[in-house]
Parts: sequence; C-alpha cells; structure tokens
Amino acid sequence: MHQIKLDSDIDFAGWREAARALALSNVAPAKVRWSVAGAAPDLFAELAQPSALPRASGSFNVPALFVDLAKTVLLHRDPQRFALLYAVLWRLRRDPDLLARCTDPELMQLEAMAKAVRSDQHKMQGFVRFREIGREPDNHFVAWYEPEHHIVEATAPFFARRFADMPWSILTPERCVHWDGHALSFTPGIDRSAAPSADHLEQLWLTYYASTFNPARLNMKAMQAHMPKRFWKNLPEAALIEPLIAEAERRTGAMIDAAPSAPKAARQRRKAKMPDTSDTLHDSIASLREQAAQCRACPLWHDATQTVFGEGPAHARLMLVGEQPGDKEDLAGQPFVGPAGQLLDRAMSAAGIERGAVYVTNAVKHFKFVPRGKIRLHQKPNSAEIKACRPWYQRELQAIKPELVVALGATAAHCVLGQVTTISQSRGRLIERPGEAPVLVTVHPSYLLRLPDEDAKSREFAQFVDDLRLAADHLKHAA
Ligand code: URA
Repeated sequence: MHQIKLDSDIDFAGWREAARALALSNVAPAKVRWSVAGAAPDLFAELAQPSALPRASGSFNVPALFVDLAKTVLLHRDPQRFALLYAVLWRLRRDPDLLARCTDPELMQLEAMAKAVRSDQHKMQGFVRFREIGREPDNHFVAWYEPEHHIVEATAPFFARRFADMPWSILTPERCVHWDGHALSFTPGIDRSAAPSADHLEQLWLTYYASTFNPARLNMKAMQAHMPKRFWKNLPEAALIEPLIAEAERRTGAMIDAAPSAPKAARQRRKAKMPDTSDTLHDSIASLREQAAQCRACPLWHDATQTVFGEGPAHARLMLVGEQPGDKEDLAGQPFVGPAGQLLDRAMSAAGIERGAVYVTNAVKHFKFVPRGKIRLHQKPNSAEIKACRPWYQRELQAIKPELVVALGATAAHCVLGQVTTISQSRGRLIERPGEAPVLVTVHPSYLLRLPDEDAKSREFAQFVDDLRLAADHLKHAA
C-alpha cells in the first residue's frame, strides 16, 4: 500500500506530482491511500507512514479539462476526493474518451463535487459582509464567514479585485485571508468569538436592505434560493427578514380584505380563456433563475456579485429589457433598482404603466465594470457577451409569453431583435415579427441621466414617456 500525505487540503501540486509518479509506475488506485498532513488520524492511522513516491520515468498528458476539473474538485471537503480523482486519472490513461462519457458514475460524482465547490464560492462572493473596526486611517474591514468547502484561497482574489482600496480580512474557522491594499496573505482559521460583531456600516447596510425590500415582490422560494437559510446567521440583514415578511403579509392581507374592484370585461374574458398556469409559469421562471445563478457562459460572472435575473409576474403582458445590471442591481440581485431604475419607474408611471405588472429583465445578466478607486465603472457589454447571455432572455420570453417587449437601448435591442440595431432607425414604432411578440425599441433610461443640460433632459424624458405610452396603448387595444 502506498501512503501519500499531501501538505494541505488544497495541495493540488502535491496531488498532481504523486498521481503522475504513481500512474507512471502502474500503481493501481486500490493500492494508494491518500491523507493530508495535520488532518485528524483515521482508522488506518497506524499504517499511515508516508511512502516515498515511486521513481518513474516518462510522462503523459491529460486533457486540460480534466486538470481544471481536478483543481476544483480538490477544494471539496470530501476526504475521498484525492482517491476518486486518481481513479479517474488511472482510467483516463486507458480510455482517452472517458471525459466525453457524461453518464459515467465516477465522472458524474466529480462533476457534482465541482458544482458544489463553485456554488460555495459563488455564495461566499455574495454573502460576505464586512464590518469596520478602528478609525481612519487605521480602520480595517473584517468579515466572518463559514464556507462549506476549502475555498478561501481560491475565492480571495475576487475580494482583492472587488475591494482593492480598503484593507480587509475574511475570518473563517479554517483559514483567514487578509488584504493590505497590495497583497493577499493567509493565516490559520479562528474561532467565531474572535470576529467583531457590530458597527455603523452594519446600520447603513440594514437601512439599505430594508429600503430595497419590496413586499409586492416577496417570493419566499426565490428569496431562499438567493439566500439559503443556513447563511442567515452570518448576515446582519437576516434579523430584518422575519419582521419585513410579517409586514408584507399584513399589507397583503389588507389588500385582500379590501373590496375588489370589478375587472374590465375584456380582461375577464381573456382570463376565462386562460387556464390558471401562474404557478407552473412561476416555477419555470424560478428554476431558470436558479440555473442562471450558475451561468458561466461568458467571463462576466467572475467579478460580478451575482446573476441578476429578471423579475415580475409570471404572466406579465409587458416585458421590459434593459442592458445589464448596474452597481446597485449587482449588489441587490434585482434589475433596475438604482438611479436608472428610479427614472424608469417615474417614466412608466407617467405613461400609466404599473411596474408591478411588468416583467423586467436585462439583455446581459451580470454587471460588467472596471474598478476605479472605490467606484465600479460600468462597461458596455460586447457582442460576445450579449450573444452568450441571449439564451436566458429567450427562455424568459418563452416562459412569460408577453404581448409586447420593450427594448431599452441598443444592447437590449441587439438582444431582443437578434441583430445590431441603431436606436435612431428603430425607435418609437412597433416592430412586428411573425410568431413572436412585437417589439418597441426606445432609449435606455441612463442615457437620460447622462444628458448634461436640464432642457435636453426634460425634452428627452417626455419623448421616453411617449414611447412607453405607445406600449401602454398597444396593450390597451390588444386587450
Ligand atoms: N441599467 C440596466 O440596463 N439594467 C438595470 O437593471 C440597471 C441599470
């Protein structure tokens, strides 16, 4: 039996060196026992004297796909991961097509482990909350987090890029990571009691969270998909969730108790013809949202906090498509909640469109930006990014089946019409398409925000409202 002791839980170089030497010496997987230095001894502790690696000459290559998979799987907490990876490597040398066999049980196990690691990284990126300790210029931002897998080192560069200008530490039970503005460093894990608990940033964050909590959009299933309950204990805003939900229920109850107003006859007829599929439709949007949360179709997911999927009623008659989430949307996980969203809300209300009745989404579902000091500067998505994200829009369209799609700006028009389109060519008229909902193209609300003088702003705002009125009129007539 060969006893291989790796230097740490994430010692990929050590695993690779040992696996290569073992494979070249024809040591079968069953003849290898893997362990990690410093880990709790197992049943075979008395046997666990590390063996010298067999001397081996020659070399062999494995597909880069396997190397990437192995690097991710190695971060999983399962102690069997080293053996499983070696077993697949062993088979891969004899069966070069193995990676294409998607139903192979060992490969499926590796894929599931890699998925769990990626999802854990994604959650860490979204759920770390820093607290400020000390006073400027000696202040430092500290967060406590409990990852499921060994992901601290692999996820740290994300935080270094995102919070490049502030010194921070993320403390975890196994490993702590620190950023001094120049370089990352790592120290052993600590006990939760050593993490700071409250400060004024927390108060700010709570106020922000409460102000973005929209009871009309409350959907516990989607909310828990975004923010699973096991993370609540480390999120300051979690304490607000129960009271906010109770308040939402009270308000919903009041609406239900109020006398119903008579629905318009045409709407009633339409409803009668339609089976009540709202739950099924809703489920399908919820499941799309869950799938999109893992999307890696273009590189934008890497620096963004999360996928910002569309939201709104499952059978909305109108679908609004924007460009991509901005800074505020990226943090909140909801489309159009920042300054452009506020302007859009004002324009919709001036046009007689109720935002709560509209499905609102974006052509590109991750925030694209470059960091400039403390600010994240919005960058326009390119054609490849629009193309990579378009299947999500198409699937939203299929699930919602709106009667009209409004594209806000050139990126949205590109996505919705499937080709590059200038606003001046296509603005303000219904574009009919066989077998599909008609499209209305107009400007993006941030274009109005960027206009330098007040006259131009109010002129353009009025024109924007006119475009939206066209949408409202179309729906009125269609009904
Ligand atoms: N701009 C967009 O296009 N979408 C948003 O969600 C916010 C700003």
